[in-house]
Amino acid sequence: MKRILITGAAGQIGTELVPALLERYDGATVVATDIKEPTGPLPEGARFERLDCTDAVACERVIQTHGIETIYHLAAILSASGEKAPQKTWHVNMDGTLAILEAARANGSAVFTPSSIAAFGLSTPPDPTPQDTIQRPTTMYGVTKVAGELLCDYYHARFGVDTRGLRYPGLISYVAPPGGGTTDWAVEIFHAALRDGRYTCWLGADTQLDMMYMPDALRAAMELMDAPAEDLVHRNAFNVTAMQLTPERLTAALREHIPSFEIVYEVDPVRQRIAESWPRRLDDTAAREEWGWAPTYDLAALVEDMLARLEERMAAGRGG
Ligand code: NAD
Ligand code: SER
Repeated sequence: MKRILITGAAGQIGTELVPALLERYDGATVVATDIKEPTGPLPEGARFERLDCTDAVACERVIQTHGIETIYHLAAILSASGEKAPQKTWHVNMDGTLAILEAARANGSAVFTPSSIAAFGLSTPPDPTPQDTIQRPTTMYGVTKVAGELLCDYYHARFGVDTRGLRYPGLISYVAPPGGGTTDWAVEIFHAALRDGRYTCWLGADTQLDMMYMPDALRAAMELMDAPAEDLVHRNAFNVTAMQLTPERLTAALREHIPSFEIVYEVDPVRQRIAESWPRRLDDTAAREEWGWAPTYDLAALVEDMLARLEERMAAGRGG
């Protein structure tokens, strides 16, 4: 029986990873931890514990008490929020990752830590961005993502901790709201389209970023953690992607379902600058070759499913 711990479990990814893990691993126990309470009840097999990931002593105690085999370390401050509080972002993202890696080392646990398209910067080749390339990000969030990749590599090479990770693109989902990133517009636009029939977009019409639908993101994390160790060359920072979106491209796909949908632009210079420093398209060949990664949702499938699920939730009074 698997014993799994998630940090940042009340966030956009963690909220959906808890049930996904319980569905994939029959009889698993999931300890969902965060500094804030989950918004809804947890499924059977999961329990909530309050845990600040920067508290190294508490991390080790919780991981030891529950005999945790695998940690999904999701607690972090994301790009746009990070620029409002860079020092705090360094503290949470780096001291938190160090505390989790140390607890994993002491307890023999495996660790999944997500990196991001934010680990790249203006001097990176943007289209396609190779797996191994120059990384000089310009946000504090990006700085912590590169440093986190390196720290996880170090803990594997130096201490033999089974560390693995993905460079996620922007994630689109309907259960929990996104937590202060530069790709949040691609979630907000769905809510606004159904609720108001129009969206005021703070990203430029033609700004292209990599994106992925949440079911693919969850499956990618679990498949990577299940991959045979001997097949992995890159381990901590696999480029993965599913589709490339601009606000105009997503608007056109939304109009296939809601022909009267309108979009207007009021560009936010801070988030626009961040987006322009990120890749336009990741090359995910290494993930495909080393552990068989392949996305299942393209733009049309994403839009159809997002609208249907959001409509159901709105009808049930659970979103909008
Ligand atoms: P989120 O902001 O929705 O959730 C993060 C969670 O961490 C929140 O619930 C927050 O309460 C918690 N948290 C903050 N400080 C904490 C602390 N000190 N101790 C414990 N918990 C704390 O973020 P998310 O979108 O779920 O992202 C999870 C991970 O995936 C992050 O590492 C992020 O960088 C990465 N990622 C996310 C995306 C995306 O589009 N969502 C893309 C690339 C990478
Ligand atoms: N979605 C994240 C952000 O915008 C990317 O890591 O911050």
